Amino acid sequence: MPDEIGLFEAMYTQRALRYIKADPIPDELVKKVIEAGIRAPNGGNQQRWGFVVIKDREVKLKVAERYKDTDRPAHTRPADASSARNDRSANYLAEHLADVPVLVLCCVRRPGGEGTTSDIGHGASIYPAVQNMLLAARGLGLASVLTTRPRRGFEKEMKEWVGVPDEFDTAALLPLGYPADGYSYGPTTRRPMEEVTYLERWGENFPS
Ligand SMILES: Cc1cc2nc3c(=O)[nH]c(=O)nc-3n(C[C@H](O)[C@H](O)[C@H](O)COP(=O)(O)O)c2cc1C
Repeated sequence: MPDEIGLFEAMYTQRALRYIKADPIPDELVKKVIEAGIRAPNGGNQQRWGFVVIKDREVKLKVAERYKDTDRPAHTRPADASSARNDRSANYLAEHLADVPVLVLCCVRRPGGEGTTSDIGHGASIYPAVQNMLLAARGLGLASVLTTRPRRGFEKEMKEWVGVPDEFDTAALLPLGYPADGYSYGPTTRRPMEEVTYLERWGENFPS
C-alpha cells in the first residue's frame, strides 16, 4: 500500500480517474474503501445503505453493454476544453467498463420502502458515503469515479442482475482498479471559492 497522503491533499486531488487497468485488486483494498464509506454521515444514523461488490465477468459485460448505450445528461456535455477531456475519458471508461476489476454498486433504501420515490434528502444519506469511498480510493492509489449511468439508464436491470431488493435505489456505480499507465490523480479544476461563496447575503463578496 502506498504511504498515506494528507486529508487536504486527498480532497484537492481526488478528480475523476477513468483510465483503469484490468489487473485484479486485493479484496483488502476494496474492504478499506467500503469501511470508509460506512463511516459517513447519514440521516438519523439509520445506515440505509448496501453495497454490491461486482467482480463477475458475465455481470460486468452486461453492465458495460448497457452503460455504453446510456447517454450522458445534457447538462454534463462538454462546453469547453476541460469538459471535452472529461467527455473523452467518460467514453473511454464506457468502452472499457467490463475490464475494470471491481465495480461497487452503492445502494440506499427509500425511507418509505417499496413503491415510494426518492428525493434529494434521500440521496443525502448515500452520497457522503460515496464521497468517502472516492477519497479512500484516492488515498489507496486506486482509480475511481462517481458514475450514475446505471441509475439513469438501466436501473431495473442493474438491480435484477445482482439481486438488489426493490425498496433500494442504486445511487452510484464506482469502478475500482489501479490507474492505467500514464494516468494519475492531480489537482481538480473548479471555479474559485470567491465566485461561489457569499457573506451574509447572496452576491456579497466573501472574504469581503
Ligand atoms: C451526480 C454525479 C453524477 C456523475 N455521473 C457520472 C457518470 O455517469 N459517468 C462519469 O464518467 N462521471 C460521472 N460523474 C463524475 C463527474 O463527471 C466529475 O465529478 C466532474 O466532471 C468533475 O471532474 P473532475 O473531478 O475530474 O474534475 C458524476 C459526478 C456526479 C457528482
